Amino acid sequence: MNVLETIDLKKYYGKNETTVKALDGVNINVKRGEFIAIVGTSGSGKSTLLHMLGGLDRPTSGKVLVDNKDIFNLKEDELTIFRRRKIGFIFQSFNLVPVLNVYENIVLPIELDGNTPDSQYVDKIIKTLGLENKMYNLPNNLSGGQQQRVAIARALATKPAIILADEPTGNLDSKTTIDVMGLLKVTSSKFNQTIVMITHSEEVAQMADRTIRIEDGKIVGDDK
Ligand SMILES: Nc1ncnc2c1ncn2[C@@H]1O[C@H](COP(=O)(O)OP(=O)(O)O)[C@@H](O)[C@H]1O
Ligand SMILES: [Mg+2]
Repeated sequence: MNVLETIDLKKYYGKNETTVKALDGVNINVKRGEFIAIVGTSGSGKSTLLHMLGGLDRPTSGKVLVDNKDIFNLKEDELTIFRRRKIGFIFQSFNLVPVLNVYENIVLPIELDGNTPDSQYVDKIIKTLGLENKMYNLPNNLSGGQQQRVAIARALATKPAIILADEPTGNLDSKTTIDVMGLLKVTSSKFNQTIVMITHSEEVAQMADRTIRIEDGKIVGDDK
């Protein structure tokens, strides 16, 4: 079953002769548990695509279906709830809350949604990511790689339909990049977690299960 599908997705910025076709008819299908890299050069439309997939911005035309539901049929407040429950985000800059410890950061999105963490599931994530001895540390006492592991744990903890990662290794050195990519791969298969990651790096893309190539807002390659 497809967890994610786009249908002729377009996002145009500006009007008339200054129009930028950031996305120009994108059709992709993603199955549950797939770990996908979207690769393209700077300006190819990667971030725009990720924003549409996560319901952060509305397309000019076309559809995004998550669990077969057209997310842009939702009203603004429903879209906010959809994002909170169905999408996990991982950013280049980690985005951890500095005054909360590692455990508190990981369960924060669950608590913000008024729910109690599934402690067995959270424990399993923490062990898988090797964070069991860092639970009471504040983020600024951790290395970049460790902080990104916390951000991965936080994204997994809500059991989202999809994790969207925007250049997750962009601020990491090459050794830590391999480490973090390995953990993304392990968590994807262990928790059957769908991950869509964007990157400009061919080497990083190679480590995913499938690579989708984007150029000038169009899909130009999809190797499964
Ligand atoms: N808010 C915006 N207004 C106008 N043009 C934009 C905006 N966001 C992105 N673009 C343009 O859309 C194209 C794709 O941008 P983006 O999705 O950020 O590419 P990437 O993430 O691959 O570097 C670029 O030409 C960029 O300049
Ligand atoms: Mg970008």
